[in-house]
Amino acid sequence: NWQADDVVEATLDYVKETVADGKVLMAVSGGVDSTVAVALMSQALGNDRVTAVFVDHGLLRKNEASWVKEKIESLGVNLVVLNRAQEFYQALSGVSDPEQKRKIIGLKFIEEFETYAKANEGFTHLGQGTLYPDVIESAGHGAGAKVIKSHHNVGGLPERLHMALVEPFRYLFKDEVRLVGRKVGISNELVDRHPFPGPGLAVRILGEITADKVEILQNADQIFIDKLREKDLYKEVWQAFAVLLPVKTVGVMGDNRTYQWTCALRAVTATDGMTAGVGDLPMEFLVSVSDEIVRKVDGINRVVYDITTKPPATIEWE
Ligand code: XMP
Repeated sequence: NWQADDVVEATLDYVKETVADGKVLMAVSGGVDSTVAVALMSQALGNDRVTAVFVDHGLLRKNEASWVKEKIESLGVNLVVLNRAQEFYQALSGVSDPEQKRKIIGLKFIEEFETYAKANEGFTHLGQGTLYPDVIESAGHGAGAKVIKSHHNVGGLPERLHMALVEPFRYLFKDEVRLVGRKVGISNELVDRHPFPGPGLAVRILGEITADKVEILQNADQIFIDKLREKDLYKEVWQAFAVLLPVKTVGVMGDNRTYQWTCALRAVTATDGMTAGVGDLPMEFLVSVSDEIVRKVDGINRVVYDITTKPPATIEWE
């Protein structure tokens, strides 16, 4: 595919030119974009000039952190994992405003990278897997445009970081990044993964975040995703996930009354995430996911399906 070849070539040139003889601290989330970006950086600059730093904020999907670690290391990239769940939970404690959550998480990420860069001298650049839609939606477009959501990885870097930015995908869309990823030999298993937002489950737990709620949501989400894969529906949608609502309702289990949280399932079709349609999943499938979640996840007794397009809704709930 000539298009992908050109994009790979241009991206490698951009990285070489931008970084020159510097060193890159690459922020990785385990998502498609930053994984493909770090692979390209290593290819452009050599492994000894790139260090991937993965901040585990405790808001990832179930077993995600170890999966990500294994996959990135298998690319031959230098990887540092910082386990920061407790620090992030603490910073987010008592916070329920969506933009506030995003800002806290963005700031904490920067602090982590700053601390790491201070302790390990010589980094000249901070690398990020930012995509074009992230740039647009965080900046707003045109005069008087409003910010829709502060994407965690955009917004410029505070002066104090003393590093320049290198964002090889700033002008690319996700399907282009996937093409590039395949071109540089990243496995389909990684490249075809659904997008996952940097702030992670923080924007899928509405209201205040607690460790208990994270666990409840991880369990529900895993049931949904596993079933999608099992029924060959995973690739039929752009993205699918569970959301934990701050709403308790009454139910009945056996002879007992329950009063527990509500979980929303969201599945959307899209080509770049800027607009989205509702995933047309069979009702029978949805009912079976709901049934398994309510039976197996302690804390959830009701499941609803989100049938809103983007616009007017966004894909994530916060
Ligand atoms: P929304 O919710 O704005 O999401 O319709 C559009 C796409 O972007 C993802 N998303 C993010 N990705 N950092 C990211 O890297 C973020 O802060 C972020 N917020 C949303 C979302 O999952 C969807 O694919």
